[in-house]
Amino acid sequence: MKRVLITGGAGFLGSHLCDRFIREGYHVIAMDNLITGDIRNIEHLFHLPNFEFYHHDVSKFIHVPGELDYILHFASPASPIDYLKIPIQTLKVGSLGIHNCLGLARVKGARVLIASTSEVYGDPTVHPQNEDYWGNVNPVGPRGVYDEAKRFQEAMTMAYHTYHGLETRIVRIFNTYGPRMRLNDGRVLPAFIGQALRGEDLTVFGDGSQTRSFCYVDDLVEGIYRLLLSDHPYPVNIGNPSEITIKEFGEEIIKLTGTSQKLVFKPLPQDDPKQRQPDITKAKAILGWEPQVARAEGLRITYDYFKSLPEEELYRAAYHREFVKK
Ligand SMILES: NC(=O)c1ccc[n+]([C@@H]2O[C@H](COP(=O)([O-])OP(=O)(O)OC[C@H]3O[C@@H](n4cnc5c(N)ncnc54)[C@H](O)[C@@H]3O)[C@@H](O)[C@H]2O)c1
Repeated sequence: MKRVLITGGAGFLGSHLCDRFIREGYHVIAMDNLITGDIRNIEHLFHLPNFEFYHHDVSKFIHVPGELDYILHFASPASPIDYLKIPIQTLKVGSLGIHNCLGLARVKGARVLIASTSEVYGDPTVHPQNEDYWGNVNPVGPRGVYDEAKRFQEAMTMAYHTYHGLETRIVRIFNTYGPRMRLNDGRVLPAFIGQALRGEDLTVFGDGSQTRSFCYVDDLVEGIYRLLLSDHPYPVNIGNPSEITIKEFGEEIIKLTGTSQKLVFKPLPQDDPKQRQPDITKAKAILGWEPQVARAEGLRITYDYFKSLPEEELYRAAYHREFVKK
């Protein structure tokens, strides 16, 4: 049985990866310090003999007994509301955290796949973004802690590949959504759905003309799985190129939820990217991958998930997005 370590395994994406690797017949070791994750995302796996959980900070020394075939480094705060609240931990997990994973991989002879992000492109001057674009990041802006951590993480991973000959893979993930997102994580999709469910107006920052492209989580996981098993060490975008303005997206959520509320507009936060759309030519060519789940279908599944949550979750979410603007 192949063995995989998934850091950030109790998070939104990490927990879906745990599910996938369990389904594929792997022994899965999830490592997480639960700083933004939730143990409930993986508790359905605890009874399995081929699942283990380490409650541990990846930025500190890590060790896992036995063999390891793959390490997937997904530990990192991922939404602006989180990384603005814990900026130093964000920088540490993207630097010390990946260094620890790469060191462990060398000892075990494991292949490492890292979760990078479309944020490495910053506020892009090229549209759509392909992997050859170097990005437009403000290192000292509020998002710098996340963007630069991820850029450093890519550089460190590539150095281990070229200098030590380690097998590495880099996925640049574009906005992904689905069940197990946190309603209060500040990202636009749970924020809109949370507001609709609480009967509040939906807050659009800016005039709503900024665009985003949303990928359903199952599509993303499939792309990551294929990339891991490929032989491609350079960054690959995985995301859904179907682009939509935030205003149109808000209108879609109003229709989906049937809320009688409306869109309200507030000032745009600093360094908010104006456009975001992946060029997935490379993923199509190398992995034979492209998204399969249409936004209408993915949103319906995600809305049903949020509706099924206990009511107190809804109100725990209520403070949220103002923080992002600071
Ligand atoms: N969700 C997206 O749209 C998206 C887009 C681009 C990149 N990513 C990347 O994917 C990864 C997962 O994102 P997510 O959306 O699932 O976020 P998440 O916050 O749900 O998951 C991150 C997990 O990492 C854990 N973690 C953070 N720091 C840690 C540390 N020092 N030690 C151990 N565990 C730690 C958290 O507790 C959490 O469980 C992140 O690396 C993120 O940057 C996500």
